[in-house]
Amino acid sequence: MSKRYRAFAPASVANLSVGFDLLGAALKPVDNHVLGDEIIIEEQETVTENEPCLIETTGRYAHKLSTDPRKNIIYDAYLLYRDELKKKGLSVKPLKMTLKKDLPICSGLGSSAASVVAGVMALNALHDEALDSAEALALMGQLEGRISGSIHYDNVAPCYYGGLQLITSDSQSISMELPCFDNWLFVSCFPGIKVSTSQARKILPIKYLRRDLITYGRRLATFVHACHIGDEKLAAAMLVDVVAEPYRAKLIPGFFDARAQGEKLGAYNTGISGSGSSIFSVFTDMDKALEMKEYLERFFIDNEDGFCHICRIDKRGAFSEELN
Ligand code: HSE
Repeated sequence: MSKRYRAFAPASVANLSVGFDLLGAALKPVDNHVLGDEIIIEEQETVTENEPCLIETTGRYAHKLSTDPRKNIIYDAYLLYRDELKKKGLSVKPLKMTLKKDLPICSGLGSSAASVVAGVMALNALHDEALDSAEALALMGQLEGRISGSIHYDNVAPCYYGGLQLITSDSQSISMELPCFDNWLFVSCFPGIKVSTSQARKILPIKYLRRDLITYGRRLATFVHACHIGDEKLAAAMLVDVVAEPYRAKLIPGFFDARAQGEKLGAYNTGISGSGSSIFSVFTDMDKALEMKEYLERFFIDNEDGFCHICRIDKRGAFSEELN
């Protein structure tokens, strides 16, 4: 009997205000709402030689994807995976992937990363884990780079490994997990408007002032140190962005009002999630987090595509399992 697997990849928040392109965390709603993309993969006997990979899409945001399956990023994942296997003298099986697209595209929640991570994990599950995790992550980074315009791992690495990840780009390990604060609550809100990462990168300066460069380095280094010594207040004080937010805030209507509300409620920080349009506020008090969620649902969400969840950092990350 042919085998079937399910792969799930969670939402993630990149940059975390203090670590542009270098920090990211996987997110999991505290109410157990499923926030991520899922792929069911199965061997197919009926596919033709011309079309050895069938793709179907379902889920809340499937209607936002191209109707041409070959334009889906998981088709690119299939092609690249096939090439990687070829290099090892292996070949891919004829297969079908069903993507349940529950993360909105261009949302700042690592939507393309989640599809890519779930895609590569599903393919790898069907092919007896032919790629090791470093090879799989490198492939995920390449695929994510095709969408956002440059390779950066601050969504794919936390999505894949879980936890709070520091991108080291070291040849031994692209990413390393940082100790994080388990009591931090991330009120994560997607207003329902699209911001493309490649466009949001184009509006950033090519060169930065030395002053900002030093501030960025100082804050990121201090944040990493604070994570290691468990100094929550020090870490929280570093959550300030000089690299992207000053230029991108204008893409997100209501951002400054939301930040002011966060400050009023005692948030550690309110920042842009990845390249937007989602934002996140960090709290330790659940009642205040709930108040912030209510505010965002009332005043920040723009349309019916938007949503807000109170999340913790998801330590598990992506996973795959065999289905009966
Ligand atoms: N770090 C990227 C950016 C977003 O802010 O452009 C997510 O990969």
